[in-house]
Amino acid sequence: MYPAVLRLSLGQVTVFYKPTTLKVFIYMERIVISGGHPLTGSIEISGMKNAALPILMGCLLTEDVCIIENLPDIDDVTLSLKILKSMGLSVRKINRTTVEIDASYAVGGTAPIDLVRKMRASYYLLGAELARFGRAYVGYPGGCDFGVRPIDQHIKGFRALGAEVNVEGGYVEVVAPNGIRGNNIFFDVITVGGTMNVMLAAVKGEGTTVIENAAREPHIVDLANFLNTCGAKISGAGTDTIKIKGVEKLHGCTYAIIPDMIEAGTFMLAAAATKGSLTISNVIPKHLESITAKLQEMGVEVIEDDETVSVSYRKPLNRINVKTMPYPGFPTDMQPQMGVLLCLANGVSLLSEGVYDNRFRYVEELKRMGACIKVDGRTAVIEGVDKLSPATIKAVDLRAGAAMVIAALATNGVTEIEDIYHIERGYDDIVGKLRLVGADIKRITTPDGEPFAKAN
Ligand code: EPU
Repeated sequence: MYPAVLRLSLGQVTVFYKPTTLKVFIYMERIVISGGHPLTGSIEISGMKNAALPILMGCLLTEDVCIIENLPDIDDVTLSLKILKSMGLSVRKINRTTVEIDASYAVGGTAPIDLVRKMRASYYLLGAELARFGRAYVGYPGGCDFGVRPIDQHIKGFRALGAEVNVEGGYVEVVAPNGIRGNNIFFDVITVGGTMNVMLAAVKGEGTTVIENAAREPHIVDLANFLNTCGAKISGAGTDTIKIKGVEKLHGCTYAIIPDMIEAGTFMLAAAATKGSLTISNVIPKHLESITAKLQEMGVEVIEDDETVSVSYRKPLNRINVKTMPYPGFPTDMQPQMGVLLCLANGVSLLSEGVYDNRFRYVEELKRMGACIKVDGRTAVIEGVDKLSPATIKAVDLRAGAAMVIAALATNGVTEIEDIYHIERGYDDIVGKLRLVGADIKRITTPDGEPFAKAN
């Protein structure tokens, strides 16, 4: 009368409960890579995570039906859809990458805090709920740990639009008793989330909002294009001055998300690290220019076409210096992956982080693989080594996890990566895609603490 085994997934671990033996086994999901195979062939890029998340939250503004295409099949999208469902939206998956969202009967202030805390992008509910209901009540957002990640600029923006903001008891409450009124906002720091949140909040406000010192990332342009397709009047997205003329109402639409430049960049670096040759399709090469330029400086061949880039290892990698910056600079979300590639270059490279206080937590993991890296504040001094060696390592956050995958692919041996839930938040079937281009990679479930070799 009982099932033989009850299986409960808790995100990072899976618990198997066997009623007959009354024992609870905790299993861990891991990625196991047997490195040393050059990646060759074609790999297709999915929709961009950091565009998809604000666009999904942006559906709230429409009181109508939106069909969103080219969504990446990742845990952060699944979580966003769960959050929207919990707020009364009707969500219907049409296929793996397309979803229909009916926001007619949404109820504000009802997103469960346990879901909201799992994801940084849930802060987009603040702008979206404010625009739709005149009030937002959202748990303080979570996300990867890169040191302090304040939202003071978001709050400054909401206040400039006439809202009152209170942060108390782990929640942020934003209320606009007299409605949203357009204003000029100058951001003290360039913030992707702050720029998008103010766009969401201001779109249905009264009058015109001008955001100065706005972020210029391609996902800002994608959100503006989505909102404009719904009837908004946003101009200047992609420059540092964005103008939003408030409109009374937005309608539904069908919209396809742009390709993920960070997923593409990750595979570009993986090709170089494994001395391989990959054609990466469904990309916008312009978005990849800072990554292409750095690879070329290292001696890697990169050929751009309309919607593809081909990356081929040709000769030993040159040392270079890299500093991450807001777009169009080299992206901070490619910093850990570049850290791995510089480990494989000749000589000493400098890798400086220009966006976050602390994005080098992955260095300790790389050191387990024989990397020679010294971190001094926001700069890592990286001395190239002949080879990285296999080890058991952790994905300490999303992009760090992708970096560990690249490092493992470049070794001559078997590496196990733990805490892969970070990777699965943001990479669409990374295991399947890499296997198709020659990687010996699998995702396994083993009893906690037991290495793969023993469990199998
Ligand atoms: N900042 C402030 N005050 C604010 C907002 C930001 O001081 O109110 C600071 C941050 O502490 C940081 C810098 O400004 O030092 C940039 O932060 P930003 O707001 O641009 O980052 P974010 O919106 O929190 C998004 C992406 C990140 C990506 C950054 C930078 C999403 C959900 N997250 O974060 O993506 O690193 O922009 O491009 O879009 C990832 O995908 O792995 C990831 C971490």
